[in-house]
Amino acid sequence: MAATYEQYVTGVFSALKRGDLAAFGGAPLPVVMSGVRVAEISPVTAASLDDPAHVEYLARWRQENQRWYPERFEITVEGTARWLQNAVLQAPDRLLAWLQTPAGEYVGHLGLFRCNFAERHCEIDSILRGRADLLPGAMTPAVQTLMDWAFTALDLHELRLKVMTDNPRAIRLYERTGFTPTGVIPLYKKTLPDGTLRWVEERLTPGQDSDRSYTVMRCPRPARLGGLRQSPK
Ligand SMILES: CC(C)(COP(=O)(O)OP(=O)(O)OC[C@H]1O[C@@H](n2cnc3c(N)ncnc32)[C@H](O)[C@@H]1OP(=O)(O)O)[C@@H](O)C(=O)NCCC(=O)NCCS
Repeated sequence: MAATYEQYVTGVFSALKRGDLAAFGGAPLPVVMSGVRVAEISPVTAASLDDPAHVEYLARWRQENQRWYPERFEITVEGTARWLQNAVLQAPDRLLAWLQTPAGEYVGHLGLFRCNFAERHCEIDSILRGRADLLPGAMTPAVQTLMDWAFTALDLHELRLKVMTDNPRAIRLYERTGFTPTGVIPLYKKTLPDGTLRWVEERLTPGQDSDRSYTVMRCPRPARLGGLRQSPK
């Protein structure tokens, strides 16, 4: 029994990342469209570090979608494996999951990150369709499925996210799953000595104009899922 809410959530993430699917009801989460199970969601585990195909998917999909991230740099398979190990598997409040067809094809990934344990909110993270040719329309019910699981299993009060304002396709997906825009954060372009491009939230020079922005979106716990089991402390 976890002593605190934080221990509970990080314990759930840690077990899923070890391949223990008890928190998913003992099996991958089913993604249903028009009453048909079209895909499933399963956690990315340490086994992916030993699977070159898995690391390759992550690296290729990241490379292909550089423009939607706040940082553009040279993506390598080695760097992606380090990211998976250090920034995902070892991050206590981060969960990354594969979206797969029932036949086992990898469609994309989705996840949760940056939990605020005191206020019971968490960010939707790493939403990415890697395969344009598989399961049109499935990212929406996949994100909805993960959201419903997060609200219910993690007893969350709210989900949040930040998306590039110039990414209307992602914004449409988030609106379909219940998010509404609540603010805009200006971003300022920074070029690092190694050529990395980064959009940061702080002005680098006085009067610098922002050239991009994040749209902040929030989705409160839907009434259909009932109230919180425990009130935030
Ligand atoms: C954001 C992202 C996941 C959205 O993917 P997507 O393919 O648009 O999402 P879905 O699978 O739910 O498909 C919905 C779209 O397919 C269309 N569609 C086509 N066939 C469909 C079908 N049979 N059923 C439902 N929708 C269908 C819908 O009309 C909708 O398009 P629209 O937004 O132009 O109206 C994808 O664009 C992506 O990976 N982008 C790069 C990474 C990224 O930006 N991530 C977000 C970072 S915050």
